[in-house]
Amino acid sequence: MKTRVTEQLGIAYPIIQGGMQWVGLAELASAVSNAGGLGILTGLTQPTPEALREEIVRCRAMTDRPFGVNLTILPTVKPPPYAEYVRAIVDSGVRIVETAGNSPREFIKTFKDHGITIVHKCTTVRHALSAERNGVDMVSIDGLECAGHPGEDDVGGLVLIPVAARALKIPVIASGGIADGRGMAAALALGAEGINMGTRFCATREAPIHDNVKQALVNGSERDTALIYRTLRNTARVYRNQIAHQVREMEYRPGGCRFEEIRPLVIGTRGRAALQGGEVDGGIISAGQSIGLIDDVPTCAELIGRMVADCRRRLHIASGWAGEGHDVRV
Ligand SMILES: Cc1cc2nc3c(=O)[nH]c(=O)nc-3n(C[C@H](O)[C@H](O)[C@H](O)COP(=O)(O)O)c2cc1C
Repeated sequence: MKTRVTEQLGIAYPIIQGGMQWVGLAELASAVSNAGGLGILTGLTQPTPEALREEIVRCRAMTDRPFGVNLTILPTVKPPPYAEYVRAIVDSGVRIVETAGNSPREFIKTFKDHGITIVHKCTTVRHALSAERNGVDMVSIDGLECAGHPGEDDVGGLVLIPVAARALKIPVIASGGIADGRGMAAALALGAEGINMGTRFCATREAPIHDNVKQALVNGSERDTALIYRTLRNTARVYRNQIAHQVREMEYRPGGCRFEEIRPLVIGTRGRAALQGGEVDGGIISAGQSIGLIDDVPTCAELIGRMVADCRRRLHIASGWAGEGHDVRV
């Protein structure tokens, strides 16, 4: 397949595995890259910049294909040492970075000076345009369906993707709600030049999470997610488990609640334990509406292979289909 995304990232298929806290380890990232997509290590899953350097070395031992590192810039009271994580990425010779959360503006020059391709992930067209002006190379745009933070505007991918593709000159990667060849074909037809997936990649053999969580994704439906932190204007879409219910009850009780009151329920260590220990009601688990499209736990190679085949079939049926003004070949 050929789009500006495959060309600029040096990958066979325009399929990206987005950064995922506690999930984006070398096992998954290398499996996605070996299958022809782009695997991404999650920078802040590593407790220190030094540990990230080691994880990059480990990933490189598992694949000779390109892979990226996600840097999620969060609005926290006690921020991690971002500049040191950036230094670890640059020194390790990583060629692709996925930034997310707050604007990556202060790090763009460093990345560019080292020839690193920057994929910025955001949830609104105005943020995407601002990232384009600041010099990022492409944007992933997350619709309301996505796992993690869909923003506060509540625009689904069916509108968000074509609006973004129309507004931006740099390539757009569609993210949120995609889990199969149908979604991939739709995203390309809407003007995207690649897709980004999180939830679907959690239900693969190589995802380093407990089988109970993978089975919960297989058994669940598109209705099994919940939006939390909406009252705090930091909305997150998560698996609808007991913790998510409790958080929502606290948020929507008369008078609402402060984050401090929710914190013990949602701390990262509980989320990590839920994902890795398999206690699916034990902590917050990010998950998107594409749960409703997940029926099995294939290898990354099986998943990518069948998605590409199905996407091709669907776009070839639409005979004469061509990319949105760009040279796109499926
Ligand atoms: C378990 C999990 C953890 C995630 N953690 C992060 C993260 O730390 N940083 C980030 O930028 N995105 C994170 N995401 C979002 C994904 O990178 C991706 O944008 C999103 O999952 C796309 O929507 P989809 O799940 O519908 O495919 C996470 C997603 C999941 C499922």
